[in-house]
Amino acid sequence: DGDVFKYYADGEWKKSSSGKSVAIVNPTTRKTQYKVQACTQEEVNKAMEIAKAAQKQWSKTPLWKRAELLHKAAALLKEHKALIAECLVKEIAKPAKDAVTEVVRSGDLVSYCAEEGVRILGEGKFLVSDSFPGNERTKYCLTSKIPLGVILAIPPFNYPVNLAVSKIAPALIAGNSLVLKPPTQGAVAALHMVHCFHLAGFPKGLISCITGKGSEIGDFLTMHPGVNCISFTGGDTGIAISKKAGMVPLQMELGGKDACIVLEDADIDLVAANIIKRSGQRCTAVKVVLAMESIADALVEKVKAKVAKLTVGPPEDDCDITPVVTESSANFIEGLVMDAKKKGATFCQEYKREGNLIWPLLLDNVRPNMRIAWEEPFGPVLPVIRISSVEEGIHHCNASNFGLQVAVSSQGTSTKQLLISDAMETGTVQINSAPARGPDHFPFQGLKDSGIGSQGITNSINMMTKVKTTVINLP
Ligand code: G3P
Repeated sequence: DGDVFKYYADGEWKKSSSGKSVAIVNPTTRKTQYKVQACTQEEVNKAMEIAKAAQKQWSKTPLWKRAELLHKAAALLKEHKALIAECLVKEIAKPAKDAVTEVVRSGDLVSYCAEEGVRILGEGKFLVSDSFPGNERTKYCLTSKIPLGVILAIPPFNYPVNLAVSKIAPALIAGNSLVLKPPTQGAVAALHMVHCFHLAGFPKGLISCITGKGSEIGDFLTMHPGVNCISFTGGDTGIAISKKAGMVPLQMELGGKDACIVLEDADIDLVAANIIKRSGQRCTAVKVVLAMESIADALVEKVKAKVAKLTVGPPEDDCDITPVVTESSANFIEGLVMDAKKKGATFCQEYKREGNLIWPLLLDNVRPNMRIAWEEPFGPVLPVIRISSVEEGIHHCNASNFGLQVAVSSQGTSTKQLLISDAMETGTVQINSAPARGPDHFPFQGLKDSGIGSQGITNSINMMTKVKTTVINLP
């Protein structure tokens, strides 16, 4: 069936023996846009076997050659940005400009990874025994970083390209092979991205891209004995994976409830701009504003004025607010809104929804008894909780089961900002900006249910390697 995109394994594009496909529904039209192969467990086994063999050869390939191939893939990604971006628009309703940015950022990430890899993987340590009590100078220890083996990469729908390459590039530069399971929505963009790696000339079998239903191959992949490391970005599924996975390193980013704490001395214009800029379907969106009572009215007015200027509509028109990814996501968001309504939140706009498109909504006077105070809408709905002290804001954030990022807005002294930062139980604290993952070489990590391990280019490369030592015992 020529309409179904093939999956990628052993350096070739293949049809699944299942004869079945998975439909990708365009969030805007709510009609099937593309179809991908529904791969079988047998096909997963085969990809794992090939990945294991290919990795053995790849780990012997000189580091500079691995870097050279990654640079080629980065250039190809940028060359094919229009085609890949078009898929992002159709599959996940990402606004057109943001879709192109995702691909360009991905190319930059791959190049940076190649450069960072040749630096940090090209160095080892030399230790001498006599620094530890009781030892003579009779042992020399040499350390090097070796690959883990086969990395399983599972990116989320909201960055199917960027959060795939942020796993693929570190894995490959470090000498690992890679099996990619893209999200269903975003799978075609991911297949096109993988095509760039294919064109760059990576060895056969080193990279596979297996598409299919999570219910059929999800657990099979994550519990597969051939997997030596899992890098996952997504939602609650990550918690389930961590409970079932074997004794392999895990790197996980599982969402958050990032707060923006706004103090009396904040630059309100800057805060309002940051809040608006970082909305919607990203782990690091501002998902609750904790505003000091004294400035809350002014802040809400400014945000309201900015919300009124947001364009709402299809991603092709590059609207600010586009449809959320699925009908069930839209229903979930609506559930949070209705709960807030029932419990007396102030609606700054009228709630409006058409299909998967939800108009931006600011909810003021949200109270801790409302679901929206704690749950992650992953859509254009923003609650404002009024606080009477900074401690109250810190307490609200730390009471969350998430711990990704928090933004603190205050023009006060750096001592005050650092004291607040110190009290926050999150992986990152942003001072006078909004939560964000990038720049992509910065460490990125969540505490509590927000994740395991740390990402960012350097941390990912290190995480996908093991230290190996050779000890020379002198006569
Ligand atoms: O939602 C995924 C998360 O990694 C956010 O990335 O670049 O939007 O901060 P970014």
